[in-house]
Amino acid sequence: MSLLELREVTRTVLPPDQPALTILSGVDLTIEPRDHVSIVGRSGSGKSTLLNLLGLLDLPTSGEISFDDAPVRRLSTARRDRLRGAAIGFVFQQFNLLQGRTALENVTMPLLYSSGRTFWRRTKIAADMLDLVGLGHRLHSMPDRLSGGEQQRVAIARSLVRGPRLILADEPTGALDLDTGQSVMELIDEVAERTGAAQVVITHDPMIARRARRHFRLDRGILTPVDDPTLEPRTRREVREMAPAEATDAETDVDAVVGEAG
Ligand SMILES: Nc1ncnc2c1ncn2[C@@H]1O[C@H](COP(=O)(O)OP(=O)(O)OP(=O)(O)O)[C@@H](O)[C@H]1O
Ligand SMILES: [Mg+2]
Repeated sequence: MSLLELREVTRTVLPPDQPALTILSGVDLTIEPRDHVSIVGRSGSGKSTLLNLLGLLDLPTSGEISFDDAPVRRLSTARRDRLRGAAIGFVFQQFNLLQGRTALENVTMPLLYSSGRTFWRRTKIAADMLDLVGLGHRLHSMPDRLSGGEQQRVAIARSLVRGPRLILADEPTGALDLDTGQSVMELIDEVAERTGAAQVVITHDPMIARRARRHFRLDRGILTPVDDPTLEPRTRREVREMAPAEATDAETDVDAVVGEAG
C-alpha cells in the first residue's frame, strides 16, 4: 500500500484578466512509507505548488491524489483538514513560530486538537520533543531569543510532535548557514527514522537533495526522476524550445555556465 500517490496531476490557475496558467502537468509520483524523496527545480518551476498538493492543502485541477489508497477528492474539507493535521508535518524555510509564546507553548499548540491521553499529557509530550531536538534547556525561551537554527529546531519539534507519517519540507535550510542546515537535516532524518515517517524534501541545495534515496527534478511543471539531483545547466537547444520570455533569462544562465564555447 502506498502512502501518497499522484497520478496525472495537473494544476492550473486563472490569474485575473490573464490566460490560464498551467503550473504542473502530468505529475506522477508515489510515496511509500519510510520513503525519502528529494525534488529540485529552479525558482518558479512549481515546487511549492506541488508541495501544497502533497500536503493536501490544495486539490489538483485534473488527475488524482490518493492517501492510503483512498482518493483525496472524495473527502470533505473537514476530513481532509483532520487527515492533514494527524498525518502530515510541514517544515518551511520561514519558521512561522508564534512570537510572544515560548518554545514549549509553540510545540504544545498542535496537541491542543488531540483528544484523551495525548491532550492531557500535551505539555510533557511537547517538552520531550524539544528535548529530542536538543532544546530541553530552552523550553521557556521566546522565539526572538533563539538563533535561526534553534528556531528551526522548535519549528521541527512542532511539525513532528503529533508523529506525522509524512514530513514535507520546502527549503527547510534556506534561512540557515551550511553547518546549521546540515545538522537540522540530520535531525529530521533521525526523527523520520525513529518514527518511520516518509520524507519529501524540496530544495535548491544539491547537498541536501543527496541525502534522499530517490531524486526528482521539476522543470516548468514537469516532474522527472533523476539519478543525480545536481541541477545541470540546460543546453542551448532546450532553451530555444522554451517560451521566449523564459528563454531570455535561461540563456543568460547558460551563457554564464558555458561561455562562448557553448
Ligand atoms: N495562485 C497563483 N496565481 C498565479 N500564478 C501562480 C499562482 N501560484 C503560483 N503561480 C506561479 O506559478 C509558478 C510556480 O510557482 P511556485 O511557487 O510553485 O514555484 P517554486 O518552484 O516554489 O519557486 P521558488 O523556488 O521561487 O519558491 C510561478 O511562476 C508562480 O508565479
Ligand atoms: Mg517555492
